[in-house]
Amino acid sequence: MIRLFVGLELPEAIRNALSALEIGLPGAHWVPEENLHLTLRFIGDVDEGEANDFHDALTGVRAPGFKLTVAGTGVFETGQRPHTLWAAVNKCEALVRLQGKVESALVRAGCGREGRKFTPHITLARVRGTSMERLQPVLTALALVRAEAPIDHFTLFSSQLGSGDPLYTPEAEYPLMPTT
Ligand code: 2AM
Repeated sequence: MIRLFVGLELPEAIRNALSALEIGLPGAHWVPEENLHLTLRFIGDVDEGEANDFHDALTGVRAPGFKLTVAGTGVFETGQRPHTLWAAVNKCEALVRLQGKVESALVRAGCGREGRKFTPHITLARVRGTSMERLQPVLTALALVRAEAPIDHFTLFSSQLGSGDPLYTPEAEYPLMPTT
C-alpha cells in the first residue's frame, strides 16, 4: 500500500517567507520547510493498481498555470481548541478550477468523493499544546506576510508516516498550461 495525496510544491519565495515565521512557541510543532505544501486532494492508502489508475487520470488534467498568493492566516479548531495553524492563499479561480478537475479526474478513476469543502491552506504548525492567546503574536506576524509565485505544475506525493515528521516524496509531476 502507498499513501498518496495531490498537491502543490511551493516555490522558494513562498517557502522562505513562511519558514521565517517559525518562532519558539511552546506546544507547537512546526512543519519543516521542505514539507510545506498545499494539498489539492488527499487520497489515502491505495494499492499499486489504484495508484497507477490515479496517476493516469491526473495525466489527463488540463488546466492553466497561475500565480499563487499567500495572504492571511487561519487556525483549525475543535471545540475552540486550536490544533492546526495555517497560511491562507488567495482562492483564485484558476486554483479552484484546478482542484475541481483533480477531484473529478480522481472520482472518475474510482477514488471516493471528498466530502469536505476545499479550504486552500498551507499547514505551518500543529498547535494542539497551545492556546489562542499564545498564538496571537504569530497570527499577527502571519497576517502581514505577502508572498506570491507562479505555479506551473501540480504533483502526486507519497507520504510515509513514521515516528517523526512524515516523508513526502514527489512521485509524479503534471504540467499546467502556460498562460500568455
Ligand atoms: P493538512 O494540509 O491540513 O495538514 C498529507 O497528509 C496532506 O494531506 C496534509 O497536507 C494533510 O492536511 C492532507 N490531508 C487531508 N485530509 C487528510 C486525512 N484525512 N488524513 C491525512 N492527511 C490529510
